[in-house]
Amino acid sequence: MQQIANIAELRERLGKAASVAFVPTMGNLHEGHLDLVRQARAHGECVVVSIFVNPLQFGPQEDLDRYPRTIDGDLAMRADEGVALAFAPSLDQMYPVDPVVTVSGGALASRFEGAHRPGHFDGVLTVVAKLFGLLRPDVAVFGRKDAQQLALVRRMVTDLDLGVAIVGAPTVREPDGLALSSRNRNLSPSERESALSLSRGLSAGVSLAAAGAGSREVVGAVRTALDHAGGVRTDYVALVNPDDFTDIDLAAGRPGRGQQALLVVAARVGRTRLIDNMLVQGET
Ligand code: PAJ
Repeated sequence: MQQIANIAELRERLGKAASVAFVPTMGNLHEGHLDLVRQARAHGECVVVSIFVNPLQFGPQEDLDRYPRTIDGDLAMRADEGVALAFAPSLDQMYPVDPVVTVSGGALASRFEGAHRPGHFDGVLTVVAKLFGLLRPDVAVFGRKDAQQLALVRRMVTDLDLGVAIVGAPTVREPDGLALSSRNRNLSPSERESALSLSRGLSAGVSLAAAGAGSREVVGAVRTALDHAGGVRTDYVALVNPDDFTDIDLAAGRPGRGQQALLVVAARVGRTRLIDNMLVQGET
């Protein structure tokens, strides 16, 4: 395990590897990130984890300076996972000049999370494209927890022919169902209890869909779970196509053979905004 901040040195090291599997992160690593690392190990000879808090994806109202930076702890965690290389570039290394040319996710970047955070996904795509350009990975692993981000990265790779295989890793949860997130640390004990309504509501919705319920009933069940938890304000609940985040109508029961629908939710618990999602499987 070795930390490399120098881009030229990193490129030289990676050039010698038969294959490179890449896990982009903003640090403050938790078990969810480590699971991505484990997946990456199965996909490439050399695994690189990047740690970079990307200013481009933070809005003017979002506190970039308050994003937790825990580089020493992060490096120790990664050592446990036997990661080959850790890339933690400085701001100047990543953005020696303000970028003029950036990547736009179009309509897909302006729905759901994009509607709440204008410009966020364009910032994500731009830094991911830059990191792909720097590291030239064969494979990159992203969490399904951030399902819209995953869909956008896949589209970017397809639309721009970037030649990186994208792996979507399952969401890692606490034993009681709460999806791991660096934001969970901001929840008080009672807020954490309320936050369980997201995963519980989604599970209830998935069960209803599997039993043949339509979209309205499924979405309604999730909303009810959120409404009944104390101090939760729902931003959105929807059933969408996981590839393009357009609405899916389950009026005719479950999705058809081979089709999938994604049940997505965003809600504020106190001052903490949380997102989660679960897949509604079609007939197999
Ligand atoms: P960050 O929030 O640090 O997340 C890094 C990766 O970890 C993402 O692919 C995210 O989906 C995944 N992840 C987070 N929580 C997870 C969980 N509970 N289970 C599984 N995977 C989880 O996402 C970003 O950083 C940035 O936008 C980035 C892609 C690095 C670009 O700056």
